[in-house]
Amino acid sequence: MPRPFLIRHLARNHLQRRLQSTVTYAAPTDAAAGAVPNASPPPPPPAPLTQEQKDLIASMLRVDQAGELGANWIYKGQMAVFENDPKVGPVVQHMWDQEKFHLSTFDELIGKNRVRPTALRPLWEFAGYTLGAGTALIGKEAAMACTEAVETVIGEHYNDQLRELLKIDHPEVAKLRAVIKQFRDEELEHLDTAVVHDAKNAPAYPGLNAAIQQGCRAAIWVATRV
Ligand SMILES: [Fe+2]
Ligand SMILES: [Fe+2]
Repeated sequence: MPRPFLIRHLARNHLQRRLQSTVTYAAPTDAAAGAVPNASPPPPPPAPLTQEQKDLIASMLRVDQAGELGANWIYKGQMAVFENDPKVGPVVQHMWDQEKFHLSTFDELIGKNRVRPTALRPLWEFAGYTLGAGTALIGKEAAMACTEAVETVIGEHYNDQLRELLKIDHPEVAKLRAVIKQFRDEELEHLDTAVVHDAKNAPAYPGLNAAIQQGCRAAIWVATRV
């Protein structure tokens, strides 16, 4: 073997041996780390929720399920009018699809936590559908003004809940916070979508906006309790 080639060959072999020794060195160290006899013990399980915290979460799940139910029926009412509108239809359908997921998530959480669902389901369905279809019949701008008003109140409502839930240090509550945070963000996206699609050009916009926001706040007050 020519001398320069031999040197390169020996150097490469040396490097390979060093790499191999590094890999075989690293593995036992990692394994050994888990076997240290004095490793710190796993953290204790979280303290169970108090009855007061459970009641608070139950009322949150109840009002959120009712709100998402109402939102679904608002979009259902709007889609009854805009189904064949190639511009507005897909915009409303996208928001409705997200509302369907919000509702199914709260349906699941209500079942899993054995919370009594809202006793006023037919009322929220009727009110939602009437509001959605009624504003859509006035026009696209009024439908979007409805969405803007509703999502403004729902965004604030979810923010209020997030502030309350931040006071409870529990992994299950942390999961619920993540769900509400995601939905809050999506509701605010709906609000932005409505503004982009001319919500503020609706006829009698200030009165319409104020009336719908007031109605939503009243509905939240009732749904938290009934
Ligand atoms: Fe929603
Ligand atoms: Fe929404």
